[in-house]
Order: sequence, then C-alpha cells, then structure tokens
Amino acid sequence: MKILITGGAGFIGTGFVNYMLAAYPDYEYVCLDSLTYAGNLRNLSSALTHKNFRFVKGSISDRALVDALFEKEEFDIVVNFAAESHVDRSIANPFVFLETNIMGTAALLDASKKYGVKRFHQVSTDEVYGDLPLDRPDLFFTEETPLHTSSPYSSSKASADLLTLAYFRTYGLPVTISRCSNNYGAYQFPEKLIPLMIQKALADEPLPVYGNGLNVRDWLYVEDHCRAIDMIIHSGTEGEVYNIGGHNEKRNIDVVKIILSMLGKSEDLITYVTDRAGHDRRYAIDPSKIHSELGWLPETKFEDGIEYTVKWYLDNKEWMDDIQSGAYAQFNETEGKRFTL
Ligand SMILES: NC(=O)c1ccc[n+]([C@@H]2O[C@H](COP(=O)([O-])OP(=O)(O)OC[C@H]3O[C@@H](n4cnc5c(N)ncnc54)[C@H](O)[C@@H]3O)[C@@H](O)[C@H]2O)c1
Repeated sequence: MKILITGGAGFIGTGFVNYMLAAYPDYEYVCLDSLTYAGNLRNLSSALTHKNFRFVKGSISDRALVDALFEKEEFDIVVNFAAESHVDRSIANPFVFLETNIMGTAALLDASKKYGVKRFHQVSTDEVYGDLPLDRPDLFFTEETPLHTSSPYSSSKASADLLTLAYFRTYGLPVTISRCSNNYGAYQFPEKLIPLMIQKALADEPLPVYGNGLNVRDWLYVEDHCRAIDMIIHSGTEGEVYNIGGHNEKRNIDVVKIILSMLGKSEDLITYVTDRAGHDRRYAIDPSKIHSELGWLPETKFEDGIEYTVKWYLDNKEWMDDIQSGAYAQFNETEGKRFTL
C-alpha cells in the first residue's frame, strides 16, 4: 500500500504521519508539502529516518509536479491535509487560500483520476457548516447540514469538498471526506488559540482574546482525528462525508483560563481585543454517523489531552523558540532543497 500524505509538515499532517508509521510500518509513504510558514521540516525528523517514508518539497497546486509525482509513485491512497488553514490570514489575504485549498485540491483530484488512485480522502472542517447560535445547545452539525460558510477559509474548504464530491459523481473517483472540529495537540503552529495562549502565558505577555471570549469550539485531541481518518480510508464508504468530533464544547475564555491555571499564571494577563470579522459563534459536531458505521469514538478526554499538550510545549521549548526567531524557516529553506522529486 502506498499513501500520499499532503501537508504532512503541518500540525495534523505531522500527527497523521507519525500515527500511520506506527500503525502500518510496512506501508510506503510520500509526503508532499511546500513548507509554507505553517510547515516545519523538523516536525518530520523522526519520520525521515524511517525506510518507508519519503518527503518531497512542492505545492499541490503545481500541476506538472503533481502529475509527475503520481506517474512515478502510483499511489493507492491520497490523504489531502495540505491547506492554508488560518481564518485570520484568509480575511487578510483570501487569494492564496483559493489557490491552495481549491486549485491545489483540484490538481490532486485530477491526478488521482488519471492515475487510478483507489481512495482520495479530503480532510475538511466543520467550519463549512457555518456556525450555530449560542442559545441553542440542542443544535449540532450533521452531514446533512447545508454548507453555509462565513470566512474565505471555510468557503475555500467548502469549494474543495464540492469538487471532491463532483469527482465521485461525474468520474467515479473513489473519494471520502471528513469534517472535523477544532484540533489541539503537539506541533500546532502558535497562531492558533491553544499554542498561542501557551506561548504568551509562558512569556508573561497579554493573552489576546477575541470579543467577549464566549465563542464556543468543539475540541478534539489530534490523535483521535488521525485514528478517525485511518478508519475512513480503510473502511469508509466511497462518496460519503463523515463528521468527526468529541462532544467537547468549550468557550474560548474557559480554555484560556484552564491554560493559565495549568501554568500557574494570573488571569490578569487576559486582554480582550476587537472581535474577528464574521466570527463564528459556536461549532458543535454530531459524530453519530462515524460512530455507528465505523465504530469510532474519541479516546482522549480534554482534561488529559490538554495536559499532554501543555507538557509537550514545555518539553519542546526550542520548537517554539525556533518559530519565534524564524530559524525554522531558514532550516526549511536550506534543508528543503534536498527533497526534490
Ligand atoms: N487545525 C484544525 O483544528 C483543523 C480542524 C479541521 C480540519 N482541519 C484541516 O486539516 C488540514 C490540516 O490542518 P492543520 O491545522 O494541520 O494545518 P497547518 O496550517 O498546520 O498545516 C498545513 C500544511 O500544509 C502545507 N501547505 C500549505 N499550502 C501548501 C501547498 N500549496 N502545497 C503543499 N503543501 C502546502 C503547509 O506547509 C503545512 O505543512 C487542513 O486541510 C485543515 O483545513 C484543521
């Protein structure tokens, strides 16, 4: 079995590479990643010592490269994590999101069709459903909830989902899609809520919380997401969408307070800042389909997962320091050159 993992130098992609190498060490893996600011080649230093893992630096929207890679490697499965993933950046500059998240996915779908890939899995997000009101805790996103996006990021992801389903319906490409809630864990770039707050708290700097901090996110430990994708690519039904979430809703302000308390820091560090434009109020996933069809359930409770996560950032201070100093980008630039097709 040969698997292409795109975006494997990012947060969840790194988790998935490590998870799969441990679970299926005899499979062959190629990771295609263009090493944007969110990719970090050092994340893959252990994977790169594995005889069945290979890294290629390149963009999923480079059609010539994608075509040549598929022709050479004859992948059985493609799992597409590669994306621009930060909502704030999509508000500041939407176009790179359209290029990578839509055109890049299109290039992968087309090559998958041309070279007879047996399963194309698109890693999507619950953000394609828009948001839910704060005063209706009875409402959840199901796979039937209409797409109703708020940001350029979620709109680009929804477009990619629709294209993926079109390749199933029109060309018979065997596809699956997963839509997961917010992930947390090791290797998350410190622009996202949890690692950003850990970084700021450790430096005794103000912790910027959007609006009144009451927006609700449904948190899932990254390894539970990776295990769900493993189940979908091996046993999921072609043409189907699977929601992934752990019924673990928390208000942003409560997550921030938990982190401060774990680090023994004062809540006086919390600073409320102007709300994000179009800020989604509440996300909440109904994961009953993946549970009933594939038997998936989250295994890591939030109290445990957040403890591992904070500990990981404390134990890997140099990882964060490298990002803050920009040394990781220099490493990506020089070392990345070694990994050509
Ligand atoms: N983080 C979450 O909470 C979450 C939740 C649900 C779904 N997702 C989805 O999961 C996927 C991974 O998210 P993440 O948080 O790990 O993102 P991330 O930003 O940490 O990593 C993205 C990776 O993709 C790479 N990349 C970007 N553009 C590329 C291109 N044109 N070609 C090749 N590689 C490219 C980057 O270098 C980076 O390694 C995304 O598709 C995202 O939409 C994320």
